[in-house]
Amino acid sequence: MRMLHLPESYAGKSGQMMNHFMILAVLLPLRTCYTSYSQQESDVFPVTYLNVSKDLGLQRLLVEWDVVKSAHDAELAMSFEIQVCRIDEATIVRTEFHNVTLDKLGKPLHWTWDSDIPLECMSHAVRIRGKAEASKIWSNWSLWETVPGLDTSNRSGPQIFPKKEFLAEGSDITFCCIGGKGQAIKKFFVSPTVDVFKRTNNQVRLLTVENLSHDKGSTIHFYCYDEDGRLHQAAFFVGKPPDTPKDFSCHTQDMRRVTCTWREGETYLYGRNAPQYTLSKTSSPKMALCKASCSSEQCSCSWDIGQQRIWNVTVTVENPLGKKNATDVFDVNHRMYPTAPFQVWEDCTDTEITLHWNYENNEIELFCQTEVVQPDGKVELHNSSVAHSKRVTVRGLQPYTAYTARVRCAAATHFWRWSEWSQALTTRTKEGIPSGKLDIWREITPVLGGRNVTLFWKQTPSFQANGKIISYEVTWEKIEDGSTPESISFSAVYNSTRILIDNHSYRISIMAKNNVHFSLPSVLIISRATDNSTEELKEGQVNGTDDGIFISWEPRSIYDSYIIDWCNFPRLQPCDLQWKRFGPNISSAVISSAAFVPGVRYKFCIYGSVANRTSLLEKKIGYLRELPPHVDPIVRKVDLTYNSVTLSWDSYLTNESETGFVRGYHVYMSPIQGNCNLKGSKKYILSDESELCKYTIENPEEKRYTVKHLMPNTKYKIAVKAFTGGGETPIVYFRYIDTPYNSNILYFVFLVVILPTLVAAICHWKMKWVKESCCPVIPSPNESKVLSFKEFKIDSEKVLKINDCLPDVLAVDSDAEAQKLHPVTWSSLSSTPSEDKTDDHNSSWIYPSENVVRDFPPTPTPQTHTCFENFAYSSPLEAESDPHHIPETLEAGKTNQAVMLYQPQCYLDIFHEDAASATREIAERKNSLRYISQTDVHCPGERF
Ligand SMILES: *[C@@H]1O[C@H](CO)[C@@H](O)[C@H](O)[C@H]1NC(C)=O
Ligand SMILES: *[C@@H]1O[C@H](CO)[C@@H](O)[C@H](O)[C@H]1NC(C)=O
Ligand SMILES: *[C@@H]1O[C@H](CO)[C@@H](O)[C@H](O)[C@H]1NC(C)=O
Ligand SMILES: *[C@@H]1O[C@H](CO)[C@@H](O)[C@H](O)[C@H]1NC(C)=O
Ligand SMILES: *[C@@H]1O[C@H](CO)[C@@H](O)[C@H](O)[C@H]1NC(C)=O
Repeated sequence: MRMLHLPESYAGKSGQMMNHFMILAVLLPLRTCYTSYSQQESDVFPVTYLNVSKDLGLQRLLVEWDVVKSAHDAELAMSFEIQVCRIDEATIVRTEFHNVTLDKLGKPLHWTWDSDIPLECMSHAVRIRGKAEASKIWSNWSLWETVPGLDTSNRSGPQIFPKKEFLAEGSDITFCCIGGKGQAIKKFFVSPTVDVFKRTNNQVRLLTVENLSHDKGSTIHFYCYDEDGRLHQAAFFVGKPPDTPKDFSCHTQDMRRVTCTWREGETYLYGRNAPQYTLSKTSSPKMALCKASCSSEQCSCSWDIGQQRIWNVTVTVENPLGKKNATDVFDVNHRMYPTAPFQVWEDCTDTEITLHWNYENNEIELFCQTEVVQPDGKVELHNSSVAHSKRVTVRGLQPYTAYTARVRCAAATHFWRWSEWSQALTTRTKEGIPSGKLDIWREITPVLGGRNVTLFWKQTPSFQANGKIISYEVTWEKIEDGSTPESISFSAVYNSTRILIDNHSYRISIMAKNNVHFSLPSVLIISRATDNSTEELKEGQVNGTDDGIFISWEPRSIYDSYIIDWCNFPRLQPCDLQWKRFGPNISSAVISSAAFVPGVRYKFCIYGSVANRTSLLEKKIGYLRELPPHVDPIVRKVDLTYNSVTLSWDSYLTNESETGFVRGYHVYMSPIQGNCNLKGSKKYILSDESELCKYTIENPEEKRYTVKHLMPNTKYKIAVKAFTGGGETPIVYFRYIDTPYNSNILYFVFLVVILPTLVAAICHWKMKWVKESCCPVIPSPNESKVLSFKEFKIDSEKVLKINDCLPDVLAVDSDAEAQKLHPVTWSSLSSTPSEDKTDDHNSSWIYPSENVVRDFPPTPTPQTHTCFENFAYSSPLEAESDPHHIPETLEAGKTNQAVMLYQPQCYLDIFHEDAASATREIAERKNSLRYISQTDVHCPGERF
């Protein structure tokens, strides 16, 4: 085992620990540091000399050593193993093999090592061993050669290292703070706070910053306090070393002076630390050719070149963190960059522009290019045909159109780059003859003795005014007799006119005129007025789309074009007539206009045109979008029964002011209380969440609707709405109705309770009469009121009859009417409009006959009537008054006719004097009242 030979300074410390095996184990790594050689062999070449020094500026250890002279003499190839040890941390931080072939000069060997922590912070030690490359046996290690750090110095107060001003962005740097002699560091920190690694022993503290960034500020500060509170602080700039100058290139504009330009990169260092540029011949970097100046990253530098044509120049940039350079080698003749042409002027015709210009340095041959920008933004380039030419002609342009042109030039012989553009020049070409035709249209209104023709014209894309339109010329002439044409001229602000023509056919032409000439005429032929011209075409409905109103028509092969016209404002006068032309192969179009609004009905006429003659083909109406109708249908009549209601409304006007095409009606219905649940209806929820029954009538012609299955004696609300393709408006108004009691029930009550009582009473009363008053003295018929009654006179014979049948019920919903007929108006079962007030006996004379009563059949026929008839005064029954009853009555009594003929007569005067007028009145009222027939109810007589 080899002995540990510790250097003196460490021997005492280590000696104390010798006994402790554990400590020894910790120190074992040091074995490698401090073993010494003890053997010397003939084939080994030990290090004879070792010197270690430091370069603090570069933070570099410089190692110098040598071996025995014999090795040099043998020109031996040797390997050396070099170890660097950081004493404070007791670690070997570097082991390197260094192979070298020795020479006879015997010069010492060198090796350098850059430290990652400042060399001031700690002591470093180096040792070396060597061997012949061919050999396997290493020499012994040299002794450790130590470079002391400042931690061992006698200073007082803390101190921060490295002693630098600038730090390169992106680097990893370790800083240390060393306390004065025997003084511990209490605090060592950085501001602004960055991520750091801390390492420490008592006297030295280390902070490592990784990937240094200028983001937190271009300077960072370190503060270090020792235990006595003494402070050392250090500030560092964070920046970047300069970039190689970009796009470095040199040019001349006049062959006398060269300018070099380049772009600079960001370094984050400013002021005196900003990059410094030096431009020099590459061969003599110290001699600057000119002084560089930079603004917004663009730098330049110029100098006079004299007679020298070939140049080899370098620009060097330097800042505290680094130095870079870029080189350009060039022949000045190939670096011609002319100045922009100037004094550009032009002369032009309607289709050509000739540009003229000038430039400096007329001795240099230049070649130029012209750029012409069309009004639509299209760019054309025109090269001048020959060098040295100072003008160019651009042809094929549009008349009366503004063009923008500019010129640039370059060296003709050694093209290098174009000059800057000259100032742009905008020119308008001269006017030319208008090309294309105006688009024209007309509206014909018949007037007395002829027609008013309103003519319209507009410029379409195919029409080129080629100048400023100064007037429109309208000419019209009768076709048949070739009379002299009439003509008017309008200033350019007009786009329509109205002329009056008679009923002959006319040829109308319109031309536009600019300062140069007229355009070709647009022609329109108006045919002779015919009587059947007013023949009505049915208006088809068309639909709106998102883009406009879609119209299609039936194509007809004879036409060479189609025209659709319409009014932008159909409710105004003039209505702003518009038209659009379509080719012969088109049969549908979407008509759009900024003027179209929803809810307005637009009318479109489709014309076919052949050889300038047009004929109306189809008419269409439509909406951009239909809206709900403005008004609800007006319900005029409500017919009510106990379980149904029939609504009738006014025919709904489907006219032009309508906001949509009415498609039908909705009837909404609901009882006041509770939800609606009627058969055949749909549920409809209002915004207040109440439920309605909804019935849809999909026929705009319908004007009546019956809602069935209602409940009797219930209050309902009801609304009728019209709907269009745009829907309907919300319901704001309801009508309320009350269904009456179910009269079947009333009737039943009547049958079961009232009628039997009545009959019983009458029977009782009649019995008395029969007993007491039968066969009274017959009064003189001439004195009888009854027999003087007009209606019962049949020729000279008098008939008395009583229709004692059950009356119908007449329900009255008007109080006034009801009072007149109070309380119940009875009429006979027949439809005879006579009325009998049973409770009014004032003027009734009743003479019942015992026989008659006795002889009546015991079981009444279904229509039983108790009739008293004085046969003494009646002929055998031609009585016309009631075609229904009388025959039956007769049948009932026929068998007894003979007997009855000679029976004592009974009279019943049931009519008072104004009965006749009352009868008429009732008859009239029956028309105005709601008369509820009870024909489905049998005569109550059958129940007895
Ligand atoms: C130096 O020599 C040793 C042998 O002595 C060899 O292993 C090593 O690869 C050599 N290194 C270099 C860089 O040539
Ligand atoms: C420019 O000059 C340098 C130094 O004089 C020289 O090394 C280099 O080759 C030259 N470059 C050219 C392209 O002539
Ligand atoms: C330019 O930089 C290179 C290395 O970057 C260096 O070798 C050369 O000497 C520099 N040239 C000048 C003229 O400074
Ligand atoms: C016809 O045109 C004349 C003017 O040209 C005008 O006064 C008249 O009101 C027009 N008649 C109709 C029905 O438009
Ligand atoms: C005619 O001119 C008026 C006013 O400038 C304009 O509102 C109208 O749309 C024009 N009519 C046509 C068909 O161009």
